[in-house]
Amino acid sequence: MKKTLTLIVGGLLAASLGVAQAADHAAAKAEAWTPGALQKALAGMPKGDATRGKTLNTQLMCASCHGDVGLAPTHNWPHTAGQRAEYTYKMLLDYKSGLRNDGERARLMNTVAAIMSEQDMADVAAYYAAQPLPAPLPQSLPADVYAKTDALVRQGDPTRLITPCAACHGLHGQGGFNETPALAGQNPQAFIRTMQAYKDGSRHNDTNKGMAQFAERLTNEEIEHLAAYYASQVAPAK
Ligand code: HEC
Ligand code: HEC
Repeated sequence: MKKTLTLIVGGLLAASLGVAQAADHAAAKAEAWTPGALQKALAGMPKGDATRGKTLNTQLMCASCHGDVGLAPTHNWPHTAGQRAEYTYKMLLDYKSGLRNDGERARLMNTVAAIMSEQDMADVAAYYAAQPLPAPLPQSLPADVYAKTDALVRQGDPTRLITPCAACHGLHGQGGFNETPALAGQNPQAFIRTMQAYKDGSRHNDTNKGMAQFAERLTNEEIEHLAAYYASQVAPAK
């Protein structure tokens, strides 16, 4: 099994080198979302069939990296379990168009998403959304750091024009409206990496810098604390 997985992942890596150029090319053309265009795309999202999504998760080998139920077996890949369907759907659209192209890991996804129809995307999104969010990791921050991070999440920082994360992502990181993702239980390594990518501008698929504008104003230390904080959160049952 392990050997098969290595072969699959190796194959995808090799394949992704081939499409890397295509993805870069697509990225040059991939148009950034306007709020109106995104609203239209989400309103037009096909009705997802979670049962078919489960089959696709295995057939398209998503499971080899994100797990059978969206719980990634390694710390290196993001969990997708319990994620909002609109977010998963938008990410797959963005990987397919090349708008999300934040490095070699995103290229794996550019390759996979290239062969998916919008119906496939909606089905997989419905399957992940039907799963519980990842179980929380034990809270690991010292009490004073936790309190400071909690204040940043719930009150933001007016001096740096940082809106409270909770205003958009929910009080417990359960996710918000439309494509605003759940963060509770997310793999801290994936969380840190993606926040750094928003911060340095390599992840730029968010509409109107809706997320990057906050990441840019956070220190690396704050990002690490936020990752540990969210990994330990328990979102209310859906
Ligand atoms: C070879 C490993 C691999 C395979 C196979 C794979 N993924 Fe991914 N996936 C990743 C990695 C790595 C990332 C993070 C990429 C980045 O940083 O942009 C990711 C990101 C994602 C995201 C965005 C998660 C987030 O929190 O932003 C979604 C959604 C996703 N994958 C769905 C899928 C689906 C659906 C499939 C199957 C059709 C699939 N993946 C197959 C490795 C993989
Ligand atoms: C105004 C609303 C808003 C605020 C405030 C906000 N976010 Fe976000 N966040 C979003 C949206 C929308 C996305 C998805 C953007 C996209 O399309 O890539 C997102 C994406 C993310 C992601 C990527 C999740 C993944 O699985 O890849 C992380 C991590 C994140 N936000 C953390 C935070 C933190 C931490 C804060 C507070 C410092 C915060 N956000 C404040 C709206 C917001």
